Amino acid sequence: MDEFIYDDNKIKLYNEDCLKIFPLIDSESIDLIITSPPYCMGKEYENTSDDINSFLSLNKKVIYEAQRVLKKGGNLCWQIGFHVKDSVIVPLDCLIYQIVEEINKTLSDDCKLYLHNRIVWSFGHGLNAEKRLSGRYETIMWYTKGKEYLFNLDAIRVPQKYPGKKYSKGKKVGQYSGNPLGKNPSDVWDIPNVKANHIEKTAHPCQFPIAIPQRLIKALSRQGDIIMDPFLGSGTTAVACIMEKRNFIGCELKKDYISIAKQRITDAIQGKVKCRPDVPVIEPDKNQKVAQKPEEFKW
Ligand SMILES: C[S@@+](CC[C@H](N)C(=O)[O-])C[C@H]1O[C@@H](n2cnc3c(N)ncnc32)[C@H](O)[C@@H]1O
Repeated sequence: MDEFIYDDNKIKLYNEDCLKIFPLIDSESIDLIITSPPYCMGKEYENTSDDINSFLSLNKKVIYEAQRVLKKGGNLCWQIGFHVKDSVIVPLDCLIYQIVEEINKTLSDDCKLYLHNRIVWSFGHGLNAEKRLSGRYETIMWYTKGKEYLFNLDAIRVPQKYPGKKYSKGKKVGQYSGNPLGKNPSDVWDIPNVKANHIEKTAHPCQFPIAIPQRLIKALSRQGDIIMDPFLGSGTTAVACIMEKRNFIGCELKKDYISIAKQRITDAIQGKVKCRPDVPVIEPDKNQKVAQKPEEFKW
């Protein structure tokens, strides 16, 4: 186990199968779990034999354990996309929903996982499909353990499009209609994915951007809380925890990814980690040549 200490917080990394680490963690001791599991479709960190059944089997075991270690009132976020084979897709969040429903049947009401949002994470770039529409979103299933839970909306409000808008009738006529702290960011998040020239890109083939765990951490935990990512990858959730002053426990099977995570964590503690700020995606400048239609395209 590698341990990093900064301010009053600890970051613990296990280069181990998360299913071997969960039994070492006390029940109801973790405040927030954020993760993105393997999609079981031939990535370099997966077995070539992995398929939908491997996905179901792994996620059943991990979500069962995640629910056990989560505090009552704690939050659980499963970031997930599609299993694609021969141009046929399986929406993996549908399988996660079924797995949680099955686990819930064995639990008392105050320990059940309740789904509050299926957040659509949209992005403008990715592989261009030939035989179907190009995929431009994945989802985040946000659950809480029990019905009483922490949700700090003010921490993740975003600017209104028209902050100067006023009520035109009724008791509040003439007053500003928006919240001065900004608006609810909604359940559709447009955040660039981490592809080749993204500033956060490492050698890991499937990172999510820091902005995803950072928003979830801000809204669903407090400073000093303990956050876990059982499928750590390049350490993105750990980096977001350092930026938001939280404690962290992460597991990752591959030594190479642990090395990447350790470097990013060290950089984050020193305040020099590469990070795209969580700001709205800019529209292209139509005066730039690259944004203009080439003569050859005009017909
Ligand atoms: C989708 S990636 C996570 C990427 C991560 N969110 C990031 O931003 O870098 C899933 C990771 O889980 C790791 N993994 C797969 N099975 C595991 C297991 N049983 N225990 C721990 N890690 C595992 C893989 O090696 C891979 O790095």
